[in-house]
Amino acid sequence: MSFQNISWDVADGIGTLTINRPKQLNALDAATLGEIAGALELARVQPGEVRALILTGAGEKAFVAGADIAAMAKLGPAEAREFAALGHRTLNALEALPVVTIAAVNGFALGGGCELAMACDLIYASERARFGQPEVNLGLIPGFGGTQRLIRRVGLMRAKEMIFSGEVYDAATARAAGLCLEVLPPERLLEHARAKARVIASRGPAAVATCKRVMQQGADQLLPQALDAERLAFAGLFGTAETKEGMAAFLEKRPASFTTR
Ligand code: CAA
Repeated sequence: MSFQNISWDVADGIGTLTINRPKQLNALDAATLGEIAGALELARVQPGEVRALILTGAGEKAFVAGADIAAMAKLGPAEAREFAALGHRTLNALEALPVVTIAAVNGFALGGGCELAMACDLIYASERARFGQPEVNLGLIPGFGGTQRLIRRVGLMRAKEMIFSGEVYDAATARAAGLCLEVLPPERLLEHARAKARVIASRGPAAVATCKRVMQQGADQLLPQALDAERLAFAGLFGTAETKEGMAAFLEKRPASFTTR
């Protein structure tokens, strides 16, 4: 598969998806969303090859400065519904990917860019990162999940402040709000994300994928239902070679060798 608006690279089990439209500050149009979905599908159908995935933006200024405003300005209501549905499908696929995803937010993460980062499991930011949902400045609302995922990340009142005001937050403020885990000097951001990805990629891939699924789904469930899912998932792993290998390695005092997802 060839890409124009993103670049896609896999090395040592770590995939890197770089949104690559720096002249538009990596804004997301339909074609770019389609390419992101294509790369996610590659990651999903190649078990074992991609064990963790990093998302970042090309250039020094932006992670993703939002949905493409020039493209959206031409849409009517029916087309806008399709565009939001494409955004939802793509970000839902990212959130459900059976490998851990890490947003390395290197600059502006505004609107659809903040929404893209929030669909990742972990978010690390450079000191240059800026987060916000400025859609109300355009007479719009967040359309790629922001009204809902932001509540789950930072709580209802902070999410309301961010979305109602449309203000842009620096990386330290975003961290204090729980929108990113750590803030790093720009030159250390990718190295940090890769180091974290390598640690995760070295663990039992089926175990990590199962944790992700149960935690992600459980966050939207009542506790008894979520605990049922945990119990089933825990038991299900006992039939797998990975679990046998993990426990045998511990008992034999040797490192585990995990090969499949
Ligand atoms: N869509 C399309 N093009 C964009 C863009 C976007 N979201 N953001 C920036 N660009 C383009 C600019 O139009 C400009 O293009 P030209 O050079 O051809 O004029 C180029 O990128 C550089 O941008 P600026 O000159 O504006 O750079 P700056 O440093 O002065 O400002 C910025 C940077 C503060 C990020 C500013 O570009 C900005 O405010 N961008 C829009 C941010 C925004 O509103 N995002 C939300 C979009 S709506 C959305 O995402 C809806 C949703 O939830 C799905």
